[in-house]
Amino acid sequence: MIAVTGATGNVGRPLVRALAEAGEQVTAVSRKAAEVPTGVRSQQADLTEPESLRPALRGASALFLLTPPDVMARGGIGAVMDVVREAGVRRVVLLSSQGVGTSRHPSDLEDAVRRSGLDWTMLRPGAFDSNALQWADAIRTRRTVEAPFGDVALPAVDPADIAAVAAVALRERGHEGGVYTLTGPEPVSPRRQAAAIGDALGEPVRFVELTRAEARDRMLGYMPEPVVEATLDVLGVPSADEQRVSPDVERLLGRPPRTFADWAARSVAAFK
Ligand SMILES: NC(=O)c1ccc[n+]([C@@H]2O[C@H](COP(=O)([O-])OP(=O)(O)OC[C@H]3O[C@@H](n4cnc5c(N)ncnc54)[C@H](OP(=O)(O)O)[C@@H]3O)[C@@H](O)[C@H]2O)c1
Repeated sequence: MIAVTGATGNVGRPLVRALAEAGEQVTAVSRKAAEVPTGVRSQQADLTEPESLRPALRGASALFLLTPPDVMARGGIGAVMDVVREAGVRRVVLLSSQGVGTSRHPSDLEDAVRRSGLDWTMLRPGAFDSNALQWADAIRTRRTVEAPFGDVALPAVDPADIAAVAAVALRERGHEGGVYTLTGPEPVSPRRQAAAIGDALGEPVRFVELTRAEARDRMLGYMPEPVVEATLDVLGVPSADEQRVSPDVERLLGRPPRTFADWAARSVAAFK
């Protein structure tokens, strides 16, 4: 059995579906009761309360582990990994971040998984295409995107591609010790992302560029200050590594990563 944390999220939802379609037994783990495909077991647990994971991990041989910010704020995932090991899980695929490789983020999550003694695979995605969902209200109501650094392009990745890679690493042998950087097929700027959403809607979407200070004030409403500054640095002055397209999605899936336009077309209902 494969247990998937963050099962209601941008990566977890398509991952649960892909594993179930491949005939795997799956337990979808989330804090609230979740709608799951037929045949999938749904189990409520909170990663900030590691003991709550025990029923979800009963019978699991592999685990997709997501690490929401509140888990880090409560002291990391050391206690989670203790429960995972005691449950008999043998393989962990961690949803980490490209920022660990580019030294933007601390490595303590990955360190805890490496120290666990289990087989592990690290997925290090850059920015997600689905981050554009933060524009959904403004696009629905005003057909406008307000964002900083309108012409700075990053190769954002489709969360469905992260899920597809996770499914491979969870199901197939040979990915033990793998560290995969996951990006989209090309760097795309926020201005072009707004235009792609407009194309999907069949109506133009206006782009209004915010200053860094304006963006910072807005982000402080929902993110801690160090995370805001680190995010603005990536969005505004990315390193060459952060702008580079990684070969890993294509290498692992045998097809190129999906484009932002593809994600926008599949997600258009959120912007209508
Ligand atoms: N977005 C990016 O650009 C980006 C880039 C690199 C890495 N990442 C990594 O990817 C992860 C997912 O990113 P996202 O922004 O797309 O988030 P998301 O899809 O909104 O996923 C959040 C998921 O985490 C679950 N969750 C939150 N707190 C939890 C807790 N305490 N215990 C158990 N489950 C919890 C939520 O499920 P319930 O609410 O149903 O419990 C939800 O399914 C991030 O945490 C980050 O580590 C994101």
